[in-house]
Amino acid sequence: MLIHSATQLLTIAGGPQRGRDLGELGIIENGALLIREEKIHDIGTTTEMHEKYPDEPTLDASGSVLMPGFVDPHTHLIWGGDRAKEFEMRLEGAHYLDILKAGGGILSTVQDTRKASLESLLSQTRSRLMRVFSTGTTTAEAKTGYGLQTATELRMLKALLTLDREGPLELAITFLGAHAIAPEFKDDPQGYTDHLVETMLPIVSEWWETHAPRRQNKPFVDVFCETGAFDLAQSRQILEKAKSLGFPLKIHADEFDNLSGASLAAELGAASADHLVVTSDEDIAALANSETVAVSLPCTPFGLGHCEYTPAQKMLDAGVILALATDCNPGTAWTESMQFSLALACRSMKLTPAQAIVSATINAAYAIRRDDRIGSLEIGKQADMLLLTVPDYRQLGYRFGTNLVKKVIKRGRIYSVDVGYYQTA
Ligand code: NIG
Ligand code: FE
Repeated sequence: MLIHSATQLLTIAGGPQRGRDLGELGIIENGALLIREEKIHDIGTTTEMHEKYPDEPTLDASGSVLMPGFVDPHTHLIWGGDRAKEFEMRLEGAHYLDILKAGGGILSTVQDTRKASLESLLSQTRSRLMRVFSTGTTTAEAKTGYGLQTATELRMLKALLTLDREGPLELAITFLGAHAIAPEFKDDPQGYTDHLVETMLPIVSEWWETHAPRRQNKPFVDVFCETGAFDLAQSRQILEKAKSLGFPLKIHADEFDNLSGASLAAELGAASADHLVVTSDEDIAALANSETVAVSLPCTPFGLGHCEYTPAQKMLDAGVILALATDCNPGTAWTESMQFSLALACRSMKLTPAQAIVSATINAAYAIRRDDRIGSLEIGKQADMLLLTVPDYRQLGYRFGTNLVKKVIKRGRIYSVDVGYYQTA
């Protein structure tokens, strides 16, 4: 299949973009791209490519941007129930961490998720995955963390493996047993930490070896390093154990309080440190001197109605690798749309559309360590890409609240997205 005449073809070639190098789109005007067997076989201008491949079936992309699919490197896509009531409570003045302390928040979703059967979890999550995919995300990270007990956490892992197999959205899976202190250990956070380290992590490690298909790497292990969740010493204990079992690492850090979780992530060689709102200069320097990607989640402060966002300009000055994600979850940020995250990033962190696009593609792929396969349009990479309804990439970020994606291509298969036209019944 030869896709030709793309007004702008964004290759985003050359690997993750660090610090002030962020924003190199590698634009080919009037671009064309040849897909063969799920992969990108060749790229060039339309004239060149028509000459080289005169007999290929074609797809006309005129008037469109052709770009890599979004990679969403931080989501909590699988859960039971919703928290609309708490949204209302927060509008009336309750604070997120106080609701959690009172047994609500994450713990209320834990109750609903524990009650949900595998089938129910699958069907609740499938509808979200449809929205993820149709708004242009072709690979998403997805965390467990609403079980906080072995049986439910394994059920979530099983559901995520099933959904990844079903496709077309591809998932990178994370074990987040350390999302909150399990209700059974309410007054004993150290007890739950020890239980995670001594019992749950070894079980997950063994379970994965027997249940996951070979092409699925070991899941990430993530910790919510925060006041009221896991302190720095407990986060270290969990991540060090995970590392010794061969798990790659992630951390939730600096969402509300600065506990130096980002420095810990850099020290342990984590793939990413995420949230990073109240991050100190020292943490920024540690990230800049590491391969740990800073994943910013602007939908979260927005979802909480807060005014403070990731200090992205400082991070770029320091030389940090910045990525963007949605954080899709029922508590702080229920949105499936990376396009919305980009629009927020432009306004709240002053990223240019080009910087936001790179943060949401190749840098996001690096945050889940899949940059060798996805995140850019380069020969040999997986054919994961988008055709937009618009001819200029700057419309991303500029426009918000509507879907600018008209076709999603995943592993070479083309999916058309209903962009909102209607017919009378
Ligand atoms: O990334 N901060 C921890 N986890 C989520 C919120 C999860 C929830 O409230 O259910 C986050 O914002
Ligand atoms: Fe999160």
